[in-house]
Amino acid sequence: MLSEKMNKSLNDQFNAELYSAYLYLSMAAYFEDTNLPGFANWMKVQVQEEQFHASKFYNYINERGGKVKLAQIDAPPADWKSALDIFEATLSHEQKVTGLINDLMFAARDERDNAAEIFLQWFVAEQVEEEDNAGTLLGQLKLVKDNPHALFMIDRELGQRVFTPPVKGE
Ligand code: FEO
Repeated sequence: MLSEKMNKSLNDQFNAELYSAYLYLSMAAYFEDTNLPGFANWMKVQVQEEQFHASKFYNYINERGGKVKLAQIDAPPADWKSALDIFEATLSHEQKVTGLINDLMFAARDERDNAAEIFLQWFVAEQVEEEDNAGTLLGQLKLVKDNPHALFMIDRELGQRVFTPPVKGE
């Protein structure tokens, strides 16, 4: 059984993951509007990733006999200056999420909640990948600068991204 405090912390993260999905959907809409369908596709896959993260928290809270409570989701920004601007915001958002996951891990340790700690380990590893993905794309966009040809090449590549849910235990 989860403690009340841990239930609330996990539930806050469940809602934070839904906000992440909402933020990336807004970024996808920006890219649709600026005629970069590959970037929009990348963001829509990111939305699925975040929904998957949220569902992991949802399932885990229920498995541990806790209670899931949906909160109001803040409206995300709707406008950015460029693809570079978006990926700077994406990396910074993922770094913030990493901080939230680390805080949750410390809270689980404080409570000596070993099961929660093991559950959260998946997210610790996932955040390394999330930051790496955003950081790599940000680095590429910095190299590209204002070269439209190179931007379209990246756009074509990002159009190939598909969501693949991790297999259990991964
Ligand atoms: Fe749910 Fe992008 O981390």
